[in-house]
Amino acid sequence: MCDMRLDKFLSSQGICSRKQAAKLVKDKCVKVNGVCASKSDIKINAERDIIEVGGEIVAYTKYIYIMMNKPKGVLSASADRNAQTVIDILPENLKRRGLFPAGRLDKDTTGLMIITDDGEFAHKMLSPKSGVYKLYLAELDCDLSESGKAALEHGITLNDGTEYRPAKISFENTNNRSRVLAEISEGKFHEIKRMFKAVGCEVLELKRLRIGNLFLDENLAGGEARLMSLNELKMVFSGNNN
Ligand code: URA
Repeated sequence: MCDMRLDKFLSSQGICSRKQAAKLVKDKCVKVNGVCASKSDIKINAERDIIEVGGEIVAYTKYIYIMMNKPKGVLSASADRNAQTVIDILPENLKRRGLFPAGRLDKDTTGLMIITDDGEFAHKMLSPKSGVYKLYLAELDCDLSESGKAALEHGITLNDGTEYRPAKISFENTNNRSRVLAEISEGKFHEIKRMFKAVGCEVLELKRLRIGNLFLDENLAGGEARLMSLNELKMVFSGNNN
C-alpha cells in the first residue's frame, strides 16, 4: 500500500509537483536510501525507504493538512463548474488527489480553513460530539444589545425550528456598528449570520480566526496556504470540551 512512484510520493508530501520532481531528480537533488534517484517514476516504499530532497529527509505522513486563509469570492468545495474553489487556488506543490475543505465557509467569509485528504479527521473536527469551538470575528450593521448577547449565550431557536447551541460572545459597539467575537461549536448552515439576524443585526463581514486552539497564521495573506505541523493539528482538538 505504501509502494508508490517517487514523483507521486514527493507531490503527496507537499514537496513539489510531479513535474518539478522530474526536474529535481534530473538535477540530482533526490536520494533514495542514500543513492541519487535515477528517474522520477521509480517505485519506492513510503514507509521503509529514506527519501532526501536537497539533503533533507522527507518525513512521510499518510495524509496532509493544509491551512488556508480563505479569501472572499472562493467556494469552500472541492470542485465547481462555475466558481473558483479553495482547491483550485492551492499552490501547485500542495495539490494532490482527494483534497477537500474540512467544513464550509460561505463564499463571502474569509479566514481559517483546513484542507485535507483525511476524512476521519474532518469528521471528528466537524462532529458536534467533539465540541470543537470555532471563533469568528463579525462586523454587524448595528449595535448589538446586551439582551441580544444574552439570548445568543443562552442558545436560540429560530422560527423555522433550527436550534443553535449557546455561543460565547464578546462585543464592542462604535458608530452604530458592532465588532463581535463569537464562538460556536457546531457550524450549521449560515449559523453566525442567522444567529445575529435573529437578534436584529446583519453580518457585514465575517472572518474565522480559530478552530479549537488553532489560530489562523497572521502571516498568510488572503488566498495563501501552507502545510500544517503535527503540533498545529493537535491544537485543533486541544481546546475541545470533552
Ligand atoms: N457562519 C456563517 O454564517 N457563515 C460562515 O461562513 C461560517 C459560519
